[in-house]
Amino acid sequence: MYCIKKITNDLIWVGANDRRLAMFEGVYSVPDGVSYNSYLLKDEKTVLFDTVDKAVRHRFLENVAAALDDRKLDYLIVQHMEPDHSSALEDILNRYPEVKLVCNQKTLTFIKQFTEIDIDAFIVKENDTLNTGRHTLHFIMAPMVHWPEVMVTYDSTDKILFSADAFGTFGALNGALFADEVDFNKDYMDEARRYYANIVGKYGTQVQSLLNKAGALEIKMICPLHGFVWRENLSTIISKYVLWSAYQSEEDGVMIAYASVYGNTENAAEILACRLREKGIKTVMFDVSVTPASEIIAAAFRWSFLVFASTTYNAGIFVSMEELINDLVSHNIQNRTVAIIENGSWAATSGALIREKLGKCKNINIIEQTVSLKSSVKKSQLTELEAVAEAINDSFPHPIRNNEESKESGNASVDPKVMFKLSYGLFVLTAKDGSKDNGCIINTVTQITASPLRISIAVNKANFTHDMIIKTGLFNLSVLAENAPFRIFEQFGFHSGRDTDKFSDSSYEDRASNGIRYVPEHTNSVISGKVFESHDYGTHTVFIADVTQSFMLSNEPSVTYHYYFANIKPKPQPPQEGKKGFVCKICGYVYEGGVLPEDIICPLCKHGAVDFEKI
Ligand code: FEO
Repeated sequence: MYCIKKITNDLIWVGANDRRLAMFEGVYSVPDGVSYNSYLLKDEKTVLFDTVDKAVRHRFLENVAAALDDRKLDYLIVQHMEPDHSSALEDILNRYPEVKLVCNQKTLTFIKQFTEIDIDAFIVKENDTLNTGRHTLHFIMAPMVHWPEVMVTYDSTDKILFSADAFGTFGALNGALFADEVDFNKDYMDEARRYYANIVGKYGTQVQSLLNKAGALEIKMICPLHGFVWRENLSTIISKYVLWSAYQSEEDGVMIAYASVYGNTENAAEILACRLREKGIKTVMFDVSVTPASEIIAAAFRWSFLVFASTTYNAGIFVSMEELINDLVSHNIQNRTVAIIENGSWAATSGALIREKLGKCKNINIIEQTVSLKSSVKKSQLTELEAVAEAINDSFPHPIRNNEESKESGNASVDPKVMFKLSYGLFVLTAKDGSKDNGCIINTVTQITASPLRISIAVNKANFTHDMIIKTGLFNLSVLAENAPFRIFEQFGFHSGRDTDKFSDSSYEDRASNGIRYVPEHTNSVISGKVFESHDYGTHTVFIADVTQSFMLSNEPSVTYHYYFANIKPKPQPPQEGKKGFVCKICGYVYEGGVLPEDIICPLCKHGAVDFEKI
């Protein structure tokens, strides 16, 4: 039975998923499967964009027939002739003999190489167009993204880019079709990176050329041949392609890949990782004999520093490490700082050989000292490993100094009150989970980007609102104005929504279009956010969110943290004679009681027990 999905009123996904494929292209494991996407445009003319792999040919043909719904097929556009997208080409030509093939000259050559088909095609070149009624399709050549014949198609009517292999990802679609239907960053970005690095990673220059062409277009949707359709937050994937194609790392940190027969080279790699972590440097480690090369190559595209630790084997680099290094070189790895550890019981050669291979890559800075082990790590070599860690630390763009160094430099004192010199505002953060409404006061809202309009908020995990946002991904911010009375801060700040209804005494019922309440009184504006990604920072979660709605309520100035303390918050009263309690040294809040709870969070400034002192 067919399984199709509507994308727009006249565009239908007619692809299929394969979860039985062991190795994509015979090289790359795909444990989560892969999708082969094909799209049918139903305009005055009907247009099919590419076909699929032979593994899903049967379902695809059912899908095309169902989507056509007894209409004839007018055009088949072949953007990429690799067999994972063209195995059903002959089936389509046989079933729909009136269909007109649309492709470039190189594609036609490949069709004749791969098949016995002798057919004329409507040959298109750069910027040629095809009008299908309401839609105008523009053809854009994208050679070597990923094969030489590749082209992409831009629908200037609905602003859709049919991007061939570009912007694809490994992984079956599992019922979803749009990237915004899943937690892409959490669940699919690693596979998108692995797909990019291994499939088109070698062709960064050509990808940049396509990005430049695409940059001149207004694109509202991207329809790739693998993975999800992008209709929201397109910058999520485009920004990654900008970095990946320029061979720029995504994150500062160290990827350590090691090859170890008896565990001694691994031991050196572990010691180095420990020294790096002690300097506050992120590390990831891979045993090249265990982890597929495609995952390590993807990690090499992600991290800024690379360490290769390899035993010597048959007077050369250990087999799986040599394959990895060769792969990285052929994938054009660039712009990294590299450190090398070698091991050899009688003649260590692996270090020099790795250095020679990576030395041919562009802008690879190899740390001069190779740590050379003879069979195992000796105590005297701990300082060599420490020196490598130090050299990496010194090369970090923002050097991370450990506590001892800070003390030595005389800059160790941290006065928490300095943080209150920052020009915070104050906001009521509201969320909704089922029928439960809740809100709390926060002071950390920052606009990050204008296009797309995106903000960050930091929320203490002790707040019930925090848990609701984690669950729903939605919130509203009511921007408090200078006329806000202290009772609003009491209402939202001094008790937990877990056991009270913070809106129970409210005279208003206002909700934004996301269904979440906002505070219409003593506020000047409202911002609705949809969480795009979140980051765990111990006591707080930082949510990055797209602004989905915003509107003004008044022209009253926004309240700042300073204004709140100077004009709104009642001054702490001197403790009554004999009264026991603790005062928050940061904001003056008084906790009454003989014993200060260890887990106390100041309801005003959210500081912990360490900032309270006995009255
Ligand atoms: Fe998905 Fe280059 O084929």
